[in-house]
Amino acid sequence: MTSTPTVTNITRIALVGAGVIGSGWAARCLANGMDVSVTDPDTASESKLRAAVDAAWPLLEEIGMPSSASRDRLVFESTIESAVASADFVQENVPEQATLKTEVHAEISHHTRPGVVIASSSSGLLPSEIQSQSVRPESHLIGHPFAPVYLLPLVEVVGGEKTSEQTINAAGTFYTSIGMRPLRVRKEIDAYIADRLQEAIWREALHLINDGVASVAEIDAAITGGPGLRWAFMGTLLGWHLGSGPGGMRQNLTQFGPALELPWCHMQAPELTEALQTRIIEGCDEETGQRPFSELERKRDRCLIEIQKVLAQHWYPPGEDGWPDFQSSREVPAEPSTGGDSA
Ligand SMILES: NC(=O)c1ccc[n+]([C@@H]2O[C@H](COP(=O)([O-])OP(=O)(O)OC[C@H]3O[C@@H](n4cnc5c(N)ncnc54)[C@H](O)[C@@H]3O)[C@@H](O)[C@H]2O)c1
Repeated sequence: MTSTPTVTNITRIALVGAGVIGSGWAARCLANGMDVSVTDPDTASESKLRAAVDAAWPLLEEIGMPSSASRDRLVFESTIESAVASADFVQENVPEQATLKTEVHAEISHHTRPGVVIASSSSGLLPSEIQSQSVRPESHLIGHPFAPVYLLPLVEVVGGEKTSEQTINAAGTFYTSIGMRPLRVRKEIDAYIADRLQEAIWREALHLINDGVASVAEIDAAITGGPGLRWAFMGTLLGWHLGSGPGGMRQNLTQFGPALELPWCHMQAPELTEALQTRIIEGCDEETGQRPFSELERKRDRCLIEIQKVLAQHWYPPGEDGWPDFQSSREVPAEPSTGGDSA
């Protein structure tokens, strides 16, 4: 625990790594009126980053941005040191390799001002490892976003063994200030919450393709026409609670609980053979068809904006929609409760 106060007045963001996710953070932070400095060793990354921000900008203008928001506030720096030296908050977005991230976080910690939060966009690495070589381990955490970062509000916040409570709260407050909905992951685990869930679906999809049961497009249709429509506002558990009739989840468990004993509920991922990889890649090309990649991206973004407008109009407002309180000191029970009578 540090005695240095955590920096909470945040207007200057540093991004380390400017690929898909770094570009997404840049667009979101610029659109929220921040100064953004970026560094990436790839010489092509600056032009790709600026092109990605330009592509997202009209949509972000349409959603609404403060008059201070400007793409001119984006600066590209040649080193980590120059990018983070005057930053109020650092978001790292380098490739998902534990050793690289640990080294990059150590380097960042040498050049940031004391009290600056250093977040990683990692999709599943443990924060305790990432902070292990830092000179200020209490300042590091995971802030795991979802693509496209400039439109999706979820960011999973995960602290490591040495992360201070101040750091976690400052990150939650900052992410909220740029229009996100931070979800605190209270126990440090590989892949956190959302990617554990996504990985389970991915594993089953691989089996269905490998066994010749369904094509890539058929698997995607099985999501988009059914559960996916619900998932925009109602997770699997609440969806099943309602979908089971007045008996709710209690009824669901009686009806579907026994299926958990069946062999297909316990499958390991199939081997990612050359043949399986080819089927997945060709299946995606087939599903895409003649529709250009950039057109699909823009239509995806348009749908994400419109869905969120509909939810703002018809679903429960924040505070009444069941979203967990970030600041709560609630502990997650290690063992499921055996009592209780609420359905
Ligand atoms: N793509 C996604 O959907 C997604 C979603 C959530 C989180 N993430 C996570 O975000 C991180 C970045 O993923 P991505 O998809 O943007 O990858 P990416 O490959 O598109 O971008 C990574 C960038 O990091 C740069 N880089 C490499 N070494 C660097 C260094 N030492 N210093 C600065 N930059 C360096 C690369 O040149 C590249 O531009 C990963 O940890 C990933 O798991 C990805």
